[in-house]
Amino acid sequence: MPHPRSSLGQQPALPDRLRIRPFVDDDRAGVIALWERVFPDDPPHNAPPRMLDAKLAANDGLLFVAADTDTLLGTAMAGYDGHRGWLYAVAVSPGHRRCGIGTALVRHALDALRSMGCVKVNLQVRATNTAVVGFYESLGFEVEERVSMGMRIG
Ligand SMILES: CC(C)(COP(=O)(O)OP(=O)(O)OC[C@H]1O[C@@H](n2cnc3c(N)ncnc32)[C@H](O)[C@@H]1OP(=O)(O)O)[C@@H](O)C(=O)NCCC(=O)NCCS
Repeated sequence: MPHPRSSLGQQPALPDRLRIRPFVDDDRAGVIALWERVFPDDPPHNAPPRMLDAKLAANDGLLFVAADTDTLLGTAMAGYDGHRGWLYAVAVSPGHRRCGIGTALVRHALDALRSMGCVKVNLQVRATNTAVVGFYESLGFEVEERVSMGMRIG
């Protein structure tokens, strides 16, 4: 069945064989390549192999990929500490944007967090990344009046 967007003839359709599923080891090269392409300015502590290994070490099953047969098209990483859920590394391959993959990934991650008892999800977007605010608003997120703080401890 065509994706609803395609029936209007205005948006590319979701790939027919698109699946959102948990990361498996065979996804490693694709995930690293995607993150290197989509997050080229990230600091060294977010180097894709390091970030991936750290997430896999957490063994929480909250790293999801969007894949079309054997092509990796997107990722979404979630975290849950028992109090809040967080979203990170939501990324879609540049040639496959605006056809609903990012939405499908975030909704999948939100379902996983909800099933763990999570009632509130937070995320951070760089102040310069204004386009992405519209993406998250389309999913129901709201910009909240908060001061975001952080400190490197390792
Ligand atoms: C943000 C991102 C994941 C969106 O993925 P996507 O698959 O293109 O998103 P969708 O197709 O599901 O978009 C859903 C809606 O979000 C909004 N949206 C998506 N990208 C947008 C953009 N660049 N500007 C404004 N609104 C946008 C639109 O309302 C869109 O619906 P429409 O296409 O019918 O107008 C993708 O652009 C990306 O990988 N960006 C770079 C990585 C990044 O900055 N990630 C977020 C920080 S962790």
